[in-house]
Amino acid sequence: MKKILFAASEGVPFIKTGGLADVVGSLPKCIDKQYFDVRVIMPKYACMKQEVKDKMEYITHFYMDYNWKDVYVGVLGANVDGIQYYFIDNEFYFNGFKPYGDNALFEIEKYAFFSKALLSALPLIDFRPDLIHCHDWQTGLVPVYLKERFQGSDFFRGIKSVITIHNLKFQGKWDPKTVQSITGLPEYYFTPDKLEAYDDANLLKGGIVFADAVTTVSDTYAEEIKTGFYGEGLDGLLRARSGDLRGIVNGIDYEDFNPETDPYIVKQYNAVNFRKEKVKNKRALQEQLGLTVDDKKMMIGIVSRLTDQKGFDLIAHMMDELCQDDIQLVVLGTGEEQYENMFRHFDWKYSDKVSANIYYSEELSHKIYASCDAFLMPSLFEPCGLSQLMALRYGTVPIVRETGGLKDTVEPYNQYESTGTGFSFTNYNAHEMLATIRYAEQIYYDKKREWNKIIDRAMAADFSWNVSARKYQEMYDWLIG
Ligand code: ADP
Ligand code: GLC
Repeated sequence: MKKILFAASEGVPFIKTGGLADVVGSLPKCIDKQYFDVRVIMPKYACMKQEVKDKMEYITHFYMDYNWKDVYVGVLGANVDGIQYYFIDNEFYFNGFKPYGDNALFEIEKYAFFSKALLSALPLIDFRPDLIHCHDWQTGLVPVYLKERFQGSDFFRGIKSVITIHNLKFQGKWDPKTVQSITGLPEYYFTPDKLEAYDDANLLKGGIVFADAVTTVSDTYAEEIKTGFYGEGLDGLLRARSGDLRGIVNGIDYEDFNPETDPYIVKQYNAVNFRKEKVKNKRALQEQLGLTVDDKKMMIGIVSRLTDQKGFDLIAHMMDELCQDDIQLVVLGTGEEQYENMFRHFDWKYSDKVSANIYYSEELSHKIYASCDAFLMPSLFEPCGLSQLMALRYGTVPIVRETGGLKDTVEPYNQYESTGTGFSFTNYNAHEMLATIRYAEQIYYDKKREWNKIIDRAMAADFSWNVSARKYQEMYDWLIG
């Protein structure tokens, strides 16, 4: 039995701010249990819901030398859906109302602590992984610490590491002297061939340099990040490591996201009966949100972090014009204030057409995936994107920009060949986006049979973890030997 440890800063069902949590929560369940024992370790945040905290049990605690102090490290455990989870507990680092804070230096101190603590905890919980699968910059120091000190002892010798880049934009950077002092790593590590990049110490870079393999969450993003535009300053390094870099497209949990059994939605439906049943969800949502109740109105959904990454400047630019069309727009999201206020404004201005829901809600997100006719995601960059996969699963036609995982998972509609699962445009341009939305409107209103066939193909597409989990397994096998 090969042993794998996922190390991540968030994971469903314990804590979620975005797609990383969905991946960490769903991928381990889909790795073949006959050959792999996959466990997950993450911080225990004060802001986790009481119901998930209640599932945790104290395992052990110890004190660790960190940032010139002797620091408490608690270890808790929980077994959910057959997966063993571990949690690193420290009330100083993991307090607060949200998992991530705004103080960049404190975030580095916090996740460097997490990385060192999780390695230190392994001998005490008696789990020696053959491979540690790290996710994003927060765990970038795991491969570094592993090489720098832990692999000197018998317990750790030979443990492999992989890092998956879910978002290259976030790297965890601060001046090298400070990071060196906090982490206790020798000066030797703070050179441009190791942790240093552009005069900063860079935790993600450390992970990329020292991990045995690097993956990211779609083929197209794996190519894009080797270029200056998408490379966030690390494109040179990623080109240099291209032999060890591959894209494996994300899947979603086909049980949690299943229109046939979803307890959050008003009317369950499937690929056979959606023509009659899906619209009942739209009707209920129109009522709930105070929009004009009309089965025929094309409803476009957005569920997203409201950030530049997701293309909201294009939407902001076109909002007034878009609202002249015969559509409804339902938004669920939180993020940058300018976008939150922009949607609030249009909700006020076009109250029967636009519904802005500026908060986080699992339940409303499922209702939107199920109720809308189309789903808008014009991202500037998108490593993979899970929302469009959820939309496809619910027969809600994605309208996306052709970048990263959006390009790999949404096949553009071709009216001549009658193929495609959604609509897409190439350039990051507001008018191109609007033209594409209007093309979709035209098919929706004038060619309903064609529209329904797009839904047929969308719902038939398979973005469960089946194929991708096998690719991870092959990689684990190859690395562990
Ligand atoms: P990212 O990880 O970049 O935010 P993804 O598309 O990979 O983008 O994943 C986003 C996840 O977060 C999806 O599961 C989506 O449904 C969820 N999500 C985003 N915003 C909200 C919100 N306000 N309420 C509920 N779920 C949300
Ligand atoms: C990141 C990316 C998103 C991806 C998710 C899970 O948050 O922004 O595109 O789907 O990670 O890999």
